[in-house]
Amino acid sequence: MKIALCGLGKAGVQLVRLATERQGVELSMAFCRDGSDKAGKTISDVFPYKGFSSPIFELKSAGEVFLSDKPDVLVDFSSPDATMELLPLCAANGVKMVICTTNFTSEELALLEKTAKETQGFGLVYAPNITLGVNVLMELVEETSRYLPEFDYAITEKHHNRKEDVSATARKIAKRLENVLKKPVPVNSIRVGGYVGLHEVMAVGEFERITLIHESFSRQAFANGALLAADYLLCRTGYFEMRDVVMDYFGKR
Ligand SMILES: NC(=O)c1ccc[n+]([C@@H]2O[C@H](COP(=O)([O-])OP(=O)(O)OC[C@H]3O[C@@H](n4cnc5c(N)ncnc54)[C@H](OP(=O)(O)O)[C@@H]3O)[C@@H](O)[C@H]2O)c1
Repeated sequence: MKIALCGLGKAGVQLVRLATERQGVELSMAFCRDGSDKAGKTISDVFPYKGFSSPIFELKSAGEVFLSDKPDVLVDFSSPDATMELLPLCAANGVKMVICTTNFTSEELALLEKTAKETQGFGLVYAPNITLGVNVLMELVEETSRYLPEFDYAITEKHHNRKEDVSATARKIAKRLENVLKKPVPVNSIRVGGYVGLHEVMAVGEFERITLIHESFSRQAFANGALLAADYLLCRTGYFEMRDVVMDYFGKR
């Protein structure tokens, strides 16, 4: 599987690291911000992983690059601006996308879905919640709310102090609970130190409480989920979410 990467930050570097270990995965190119001094270098020039002669290109050249060297899937850990710039270029060239970036507007999300559904030969996984474990947490939480709809529910998410947006995973958990409970579920965000990502859901009755917690303590969990989603997309077109990937994965075991 030939993978391209957009976003050479904290999460993206973990994909580079995992690609060094995974058989059958070739990280064939990466994209950086237009004007970045990383453009024109190789992945090994920029990251401490040897043997990667794969080039880094400016984002604006993606369409041209895909004409001569087409990856199967582009994994995106960048920013909504970059994703929306890449979307038409990937769609036009049949380069499928695993979109792990968060903080899109509702209009941008609608465009991602429409493009994936309406472009022949194209597909994407929109995965603001990329890890296996957090997807299992969502199933458990929804199941709990079906048993105990009379309880009060509250979500707390903790991330590192550079994260500005509210966790898209927390908002997704709230939405799934609200669909069952037909009442709002509050989300509390805590930004402290170096937290990679913690989601805690409390179900509280008059005399008892259940707490379900998922914590990612390594960003390798993100890269692992991204490669799982990329593998899922290889033989599919259309619009998918991480739940589709994870259910397929568990179904196969
Ligand atoms: N789905 C999940 O479970 C999950 C998990 C982890 C992270 N994420 C999301 O993934 C994204 C990245 O997270 P991170 O922690 O890796 O952030 P980060 O360390 O800030 O890295 C972001 C990277 O994206 C690049 N970038 C930003 N805008 C760009 C543009 N317009 N064109 C090209 N490159 C651009 C940045 O380049 P510069 O250095 O030049 O700015 C940087 O290399 C965020 O949206 C985050 O919420 C999602």
